[in-house]
Amino acid sequence: METPIVILAIETSCDETSGAVIKDDRILSNIVSSQIKLHSEYGGVVPEIAVREHLKNLPIVVKAAFAEANINPDDVDLIAATRGPGLPSALMAGYRTAQSIAFTLKKPFFGIHHHEAHLYSPWISPEEKRLQLELFRPNISLIVSGGHTLLVYVKSEFEHQVLGSTIDDAAGECFDKVAKLIGLPYPGGPQMDKLAEKGNPDKYFFPRPMLQNQDLNFSFSGLKTAVRYFLRDNPKVLDDIQNICDLCASVREAIIDVLIAKTNRAIEITGVNCVTASGGVSSNKLLRQRLEQIANKKQILLRLSDHQFCTDNAAMVGIVAYMKHKAGYEPTDLDSDIISSWVLT
Ligand code: KG4
Ligand code: ZN
Repeated sequence: METPIVILAIETSCDETSGAVIKDDRILSNIVSSQIKLHSEYGGVVPEIAVREHLKNLPIVVKAAFAEANINPDDVDLIAATRGPGLPSALMAGYRTAQSIAFTLKKPFFGIHHHEAHLYSPWISPEEKRLQLELFRPNISLIVSGGHTLLVYVKSEFEHQVLGSTIDDAAGECFDKVAKLIGLPYPGGPQMDKLAEKGNPDKYFFPRPMLQNQDLNFSFSGLKTAVRYFLRDNPKVLDDIQNICDLCASVREAIIDVLIAKTNRAIEITGVNCVTASGGVSSNKLLRQRLEQIANKKQILLRLSDHQFCTDNAAMVGIVAYMKHKAGYEPTDLDSDIISSWVLT
């Protein structure tokens, strides 16, 4: 029997500082310290604040991850960190910290692609806190976050083909920008989702950008602009809470309609019998319901990232490092740099 491998993983691509300890395919700890409250008064992530908070919180988070896992730093066999894409200064904080730990402990190091981490997170069982790769099959993977909207054909482990992506704003960015227009705090996605539950999605109509295009790309900036003009012409809508709920429901419906239509098309084109979703926006209630409906109708397997693994976290980074190690990938050079606009291939 092979000796188990213990991995320390670090994630700091945006506004969460996270550390996790993984033992083979099992997550022993996954500590996430969110900076959301600090950024919310600015209506978005302020890089200066993000990097200062990462540097302050990294030692605390890593220590807590070791303590919860009941693992001694000397027992670590491999160190991993998010290499990109993300905010350059934020990435740098976690990447350099992880490299320093690897250098000190004289252990191999893996720089992990942030989208690969999201991509495999739906295969983590929340009950067992374990990567269920034995259930893996070729799939269409929808990655929807604040920075990215991607449809990926995952043919086998680490064999990816990006079928579509956004040509401007990401889906989460659209939620956040519309929420800001409504006057909701950052990040607006979860707030809008909550209010939308009490609203009528047919009350107002907003465009479904690129819905008719045969390709699998997305565009959300026009939708955001449509809401801006709507509010300019109908400012009184914001005086009534029911109208706000209806507005949130109508915008959410437009965004999710597009995500679902393109995901459906990708499943049909590739003929896969599995669909997965990950990233912050995959927490969205309507998106999850609609994906369930597709999966039931088509009788295909649906793997949704559990809520705790939807937003940025180090466990998903550690899991990919484990997969890479097991598949025989070469470790990343200790003097390597971050790649802030790393494209998934
Ligand atoms: O994956 P993530 O934590 O960070 C990035 O890599 O970007 O995603 C954060 C994004 C934010 O835009 C946030 O508003 C959105 O995910 N989000 C949601 C929901 N929960 C988080 N959007 C819509 N509905 C939600 N329930
Ligand atoms: Zn992310």
